[in-house]
Amino acid sequence: MKNGKYGIGILGLGGRGVFFGGGAFVRNGHFYIECLCDVRQDKIDSAIDWLKDHDLLEQPVKGYTDIDAFLAHPGLDAVVVATPDFAHADCAVKVLQAKKNMFLVKPMAQSIADCDRIIGAWQGSDVVFMVGLELRYCTLMRDCKALIEAGEIGKVIIGTVVDNVSVGGQYYFHGPRRRKAYIKSLLLEKGTHSLDLANWLVNATPRKVYASGGLDVYGGDAPNDKRCRDCEIRDTCPEFKDTNNFKMDYGAVLSDVPDYCVFARECDVSDNSHVLVDYDNGARLTYMECHFTPEYTREFMFVGDKGKIEAFYDNEQNFKIKLWKRFEKEPRYIYPEKSEGGHGGGDTGIVEAFLGCLQEGKPSMKGAKGARDSAAIAIAAAESEESGMPVLIPDVPYPQGIEI
Ligand SMILES: NC(=O)c1ccc[n+]([C@@H]2O[C@H](COP(=O)([O-])OP(=O)(O)OC[C@H]3O[C@@H](n4cnc5c(N)ncnc54)[C@H](O)[C@@H]3O)[C@@H](O)[C@H]2O)c1
Repeated sequence: MKNGKYGIGILGLGGRGVFFGGGAFVRNGHFYIECLCDVRQDKIDSAIDWLKDHDLLEQPVKGYTDIDAFLAHPGLDAVVVATPDFAHADCAVKVLQAKKNMFLVKPMAQSIADCDRIIGAWQGSDVVFMVGLELRYCTLMRDCKALIEAGEIGKVIIGTVVDNVSVGGQYYFHGPRRRKAYIKSLLLEKGTHSLDLANWLVNATPRKVYASGGLDVYGGDAPNDKRCRDCEIRDTCPEFKDTNNFKMDYGAVLSDVPDYCVFARECDVSDNSHVLVDYDNGARLTYMECHFTPEYTREFMFVGDKGKIEAFYDNEQNFKIKLWKRFEKEPRYIYPEKSEGGHGGGDTGIVEAFLGCLQEGKPSMKGAKGARDSAAIAIAAAESEESGMPVLIPDVPYPQGIEI
């Protein structure tokens, strides 16, 4: 620590690493950037330029292209891991083996075995470990959780969650995320947030998953190397991607983004899916994810033995909760407060929660079970889509006596 602030290192300097790892952590006021790491030197250079331009560097920082040298950097108190999904497990295990506090962006990993490898590596590391499922920290979801915990709808029995992803084409189908080999499934890359929220509200462990999905709007016959910038219909195509100053929903403005045609042959991830989940306490859930809706929102509906709760989420925070008790004539409407920061205020909230764990000074892995369970549903769903069969989620032993 320096001047009462934790020194962080960011591992993986794409949009999420720089804008969230740099932006949200430093703006919290209790962190400063101690060092950076990316396998590409140009990413280190551009991250330093951006952080300087935004007054987010308190001191000159060293950039590493080698993770072992990065982890050995003196003064490194915590690492934000923001590498691509396929690199999460190996990077996370290395960070834990080096006994560094770790904030790992979602999804936890691309296989259930890799999630469990990370949980195993945490044991004996004596550090704080958190996975970046920030939507748990937005006011809407906190209010829903509090209402359910207060017994307003009784025991949760059945639920439906919908991810309307109007930005599916723009975010995923112009680049490597359109391929299973890169992200496994959009249910994992995108859906883990909502699945985690569902698990949290149901308050149970998912056991069995069945899914059906398809690629019905994106993909096609276009060559894999066809780009929007060279396309003859670029002025009229509604899927055209402008690579200059491309804005992400968490505030990042990116310039180095791919603009390959969304109708390319190599697209193979589903752009719409339905998932059915059975929980260990008998509750059940349906989850729908669609990447060609007009709107970009999330909808939640849970029914318990005493009532029903519905919640509406969008990034602009037009939050709304409808609470209706059985046998009552009218529902009640609740409008949760807005808060600062990306992802409906969740980005700010989760950094604060990570800080709280560091300040407590005890080893912890708050939220790790939710991160593992949400990844496990998505991974099992991707397998179920391929095989047409239900998939069982295996158990993992968690350490006793800590909040998971
Ligand atoms: N809401 C959220 O929580 C949220 C939002 C966006 C992205 N993400 C997650 O953040 C991660 C990064 O997303 P992004 O859009 O910034 O991706 P990106 O591909 O733009 O950036 C990843 C960076 O990691 C680097 N890298 C790759 N392998 C590495 C390794 N082994 N060691 C060090 N660096 C390595 C790459 O060179 C690249 O600069 C992904 O896992 C994504 O799912 C989370």
